[in-house]
Amino acid sequence: MKKTTDSPLILGIESSCDETAAAVIRGRQLLSDEIASSAATQAKYGGVVPEIASRAHAQEVDEVVSRALRNANVRKEELDAVAVTYGAGLLGALLVGLSFAKGFAYGLGIPLIGVDHIRGHLAAAYLEDETLEPPFLTLLASGGHTAILYTEAADKFRVLGGTLDDAAGEAFDKVARVLSLPYPGGPHIEALAREGKNLISMPKMLKGGGGYDFSYSGLKTAVINYVHTKEQKGEEYSRADVACSFQHAALDVLVKKTIEGANETGARVVTAGGGVIANGYLRERLAAACAQQGLKLVLPAKKHCTDNAAMIAAEGLVQYRLGHFSPLSLNAQASIPLVRGQAAPSRGAGM
Ligand code: KG4
Ligand code: ZN
Repeated sequence: MKKTTDSPLILGIESSCDETAAAVIRGRQLLSDEIASSAATQAKYGGVVPEIASRAHAQEVDEVVSRALRNANVRKEELDAVAVTYGAGLLGALLVGLSFAKGFAYGLGIPLIGVDHIRGHLAAAYLEDETLEPPFLTLLASGGHTAILYTEAADKFRVLGGTLDDAAGEAFDKVARVLSLPYPGGPHIEALAREGKNLISMPKMLKGGGGYDFSYSGLKTAVINYVHTKEQKGEEYSRADVACSFQHAALDVLVKKTIEGANETGARVVTAGGGVIANGYLRERLAAACAQQGLKLVLPAKKHCTDNAAMIAAEGLVQYRLGHFSPLSLNAQASIPLVRGQAAPSRGAGM
């Protein structure tokens, strides 16, 4: 085994859904950031087909990792560790990246670091601001989760509230389908919403989930009912107005609860992560609300909000510095629960 170093060279690999991604970091410096996506093929099916995703990963992973090393100008022998998503996600898809990473780590005699995909989304902010350190409050909004988390220290975080039914991104995808927009729905709803002129009344999101929990099923059903009723009656309606009204209702609540969470925990720094954080309207609203409250906001670049390997390498760095490494027997996990309401130690997978 190599001796540990302060600014390790870490290769990150991500394959939990339809993106095959690899990135290399040295400390927090991003040296390369590669991605191959099967999203275009998946779009034809209106969602992710696990079998297609696994096959695409198997075809791409070797080339994507080689490209990441080449573009970073790094030989694989120079790497200090390999960080890889071991869950949550599609099992077959995860196994491709995980098996590849194990082979790499074993062959090079360097540590394997299994990363929880959600912790990766949280770590994306570290790449944006090299001075960022806990404590900070994070708004997490992806296809699988909506949550507010408080990171007290590198190895200690607390979930203030989370997803009760549909996650925010899932609601965007389902509403997009009703509006005949392609998968994934978020970016298409955002684009259509820009043409919206009149806001339609939507159920107040706060009713659905009290405290810091989030419920999107009521809002989703209201949109579906609105569209279906209009269509059944043969009445005209504006799809752009629907997209815009949904977007406001779905995202304003995220901003409100984030600010409440910062006030309650006393956090002076707010970060965010997950695909929904790529939304321009949400980014503007968060920036305005944080500025008004005198909070520092660290938003990952849009490409580091949606799935990528740079964030997996970044969380790998956190675990590396804690000395949390994973055994080669580490298995893929389809789901990893977010521990609510209590301090959760951030342990390396399988330790
Ligand atoms: O984090 P992510 O890439 O994958 C998961 O870990 O789930 O998030 C994907 C989700 C999808 O539901 C997608 O529709 C949503 O993020 N998303 C957006 C935007 N871009 C992606 N939602 C709203 N606005 C966007 N611009
Ligand atoms: Zn994700």
